[in-house]
Amino acid sequence: MNKTIEAALNQQINAELHSAYTYLAMSAHFAEKDFDGFSTWMRMQAQEELAHAMKLYDYVLERGGHVALETVAAPAKKLGTPLKIFETALAHEKKITGMIHDLYELARKNKDYATENQLNWFVTEQVEEEDSAGRAVEQLKRAGDNMSALLMLDQQFGARSSE
Ligand SMILES: [Fe+2]
Ligand SMILES: [Fe+2]
Repeated sequence: MNKTIEAALNQQINAELHSAYTYLAMSAHFAEKDFDGFSTWMRMQAQEELAHAMKLYDYVLERGGHVALETVAAPAKKLGTPLKIFETALAHEKKITGMIHDLYELARKNKDYATENQLNWFVTEQVEEEDSAGRAVEQLKRAGDNMSALLMLDQQFGARSSE
């Protein structure tokens, strides 16, 4: 496997692990504030991110590449309101989408069709990720400072099974 692509895939594994860490911190924050539904949603999101990392991890190994695990950056400590947190999640997903697209471009430039094919799944996944975070932001904007609307959303988010 091309060393540049291998390095970029390892970087993406690290980014997915950082995403998991980010959402786990958000989950803990919501649990501390007794928003149990938002907490559940974020915890499931963290598990998804871990699955993304493992998908790439397995792929690198399958291609006979080397998995190089690096330090995972700490998530933000100050998190703010539910709206602010989901806005941060949306911005984060947009950043990840950009990374996936850059990786896709790199695979294409190097005629690594297998990696391109592997990344197709991630391109589609990012559309879903931005959509679900974006919808959450819109719903939270609508709820505003109305505590009963917020609690209803909290309950609704807690019903998330998996996406
Ligand atoms: Fe991801
Ligand atoms: Fe994500």
